[in-house]
Amino acid sequence: MKKKSISYNAIEKEILSNNKYQRISLESHHGLTRLEHSLRVSRNVYKVSRKLNLDYVSATRAALLHDFFTNEEFETNHGLIQGVVHPDIALANACGEFDLNEKEKNAIVSHMFPLSVVLPRSREAWVLTAVDKVVAIYEYGLYKFNPKKAVKTLRFANYSLCFLFLFVINILTIGEK
Ligand SMILES: [Fe+2]
Ligand SMILES: [Fe+2]
Repeated sequence: MKKKSISYNAIEKEILSNNKYQRISLESHHGLTRLEHSLRVSRNVYKVSRKLNLDYVSATRAALLHDFFTNEEFETNHGLIQGVVHPDIALANACGEFDLNEKEKNAIVSHMFPLSVVLPRSREAWVLTAVDKVVAIYEYGLYKFNPKKAVKTLRFANYSLCFLFLFVINILTIGEK
């Protein structure tokens, strides 16, 4: 008998209706909100893990919860430390609000691998860590990269290099004048 499939909406329903979880819709993340980022990651994890015939329910739940934290939960604003520490905070928050299995817990806490030292122990966890990175690069490119600013910076760098070049030529040829 064929197993009945569970829709993405059915999986996200329980998590999205949680009051504490809804707070991540107010947090900024890669130039958008943390909720938008988590939804994008989880939708893609759902698709990939279904295609690969994995435990897509656990993978999608872990994806929805992988960045379940607010910025005020950190003692420091240092980006690198936040990058290492936030999976532990997300796991603690997720365990406080939902019943998680071991696969979901490991996928959440290892999603920053290799920045965090916890190894993904299931194929679902590997899918989450890979999809999260691809989505993060996409979001950085889409929302943080400002083409006008980049052109200005390049122009400034170009002018600066030209002046530097002329200055060096001037210094080198000073004795010949
Ligand atoms: Fe994260
Ligand atoms: Fe993430």
